Amino acid sequence: MGLSYLSVINIRNVKNASLNPHDTLNIICGENGSGKTSLLEAIYYLGRTKSPRTRFLNKVVNVEENSMTVFARLKSNKIKQIGIEYKKREGSRLKIDGRKATAASEVAYALPLLYVGSDATLHMYRGANYRRRFIDWGVFHVEHRFLDEVKQFNRILKQRNAALKKKSVEALTVWDKSLVSSAEAIDSMRSEFIIRLAPLFKKYSCLLIQSDEFNKIVMQYDRGWQQDVKLQETLDKALPRDIEVGYTRYGPHRADMKLKINSRLVEDTASAGQLKLLVCALFLAQLELFNMDADQKCIILIDDLASELDKGHRNIFIELLSQLNTQIYVTTTDLDHFCLNNLSNYKVFHVKHGVVTDVVDT
Ligand SMILES: Nc1ncnc2c1ncn2[C@@H]1O[C@H](COP(=O)(O)OP(=O)(O)OP(=O)(O)O)[C@@H](O)[C@H]1O
Ligand SMILES: [Mg+2]
Repeated sequence: MGLSYLSVINIRNVKNASLNPHDTLNIICGENGSGKTSLLEAIYYLGRTKSPRTRFLNKVVNVEENSMTVFARLKSNKIKQIGIEYKKREGSRLKIDGRKATAASEVAYALPLLYVGSDATLHMYRGANYRRRFIDWGVFHVEHRFLDEVKQFNRILKQRNAALKKKSVEALTVWDKSLVSSAEAIDSMRSEFIIRLAPLFKKYSCLLIQSDEFNKIVMQYDRGWQQDVKLQETLDKALPRDIEVGYTRYGPHRADMKLKINSRLVEDTASAGQLKLLVCALFLAQLELFNMDADQKCIILIDDLASELDKGHRNIFIELLSQLNTQIYVTTTDLDHFCLNNLSNYKVFHVKHGVVTDVVDT
């Protein structure tokens, strides 16, 4: 699974590009400001109906135009083509095999993709939000009822928080029962997922960072409330303070995943390159797990792979990714960042002032 053809129109400085990507590795090379990230952004927009860089799609449309389009043909038994168009003031329109798609989740299932932005390392260690979304991407693809459960939970949480703000304690008891039931379902799906992800993460960490210290790395899941206490009990105890602050402080919306060595957070000790390698290990684990469960393959978009990594580690990462039989798109400013001689199968696309050309076909 992957894209066999991609057309990008008016995404930032890329006014009109057509590509026939390689099944495995696609290296997008160009100088700063040439349009590399914009190409990844186009694929991301197709699969996620949003941009990884901004909440405002009108910023993504080329400044001289009023609309943008991305179209792709897929190597898949099920879905053959996906197209998305955005018009200023009208929003996005998505078509899957010529039929109008009704929900963004439809395309998320049809075109599963992982995005490792140039700021992925920063986000991964900065806050629980990104880590939670990373975990939830995996759970979403394994457990198809996860999305409905999260939507339901968020709806109730909103009502509960509104009741907390109004200090209407009686209304709270109405919400708590369904809140707890949704919370427990979400937690159980997440914790089962982590149980399977953690050993894969450890395997890839050890392959990427060969050191006795990193062999001791552990992935720790925090469900958002104390491990051996029921959520209802936690909510009851927390109520006076929750009323004071006006929101619910415990629950799966506060879940987190932490990486530790000898009980210390890795971000407190590991080097910048090691932290990025651990992020690479997380994505490799995520991909391997996805491949085990799904009947299709996932696309991975990696922006600015070279930064923080030395040439040796970059190539180990690319090799490990290639073994996962996934379609990879990486951007780089310099082809010398890769040991191309060691790679058997790849295509290079050169980008200059938004114009994409196919350079090497192996
Ligand atoms: N809405 C827009 N319309 C036209 N051009 C835009 C728009 N938004 C950004 N650009 C320009 O698009 C160009 C490509 O940006 P992009 O982020 O894709 O570059 P890049 O090749 O990834 O560069 P870098 O190596 O610095 O990350 C930039 O020169 C930027 O100024
Ligand atoms: Mg870029």
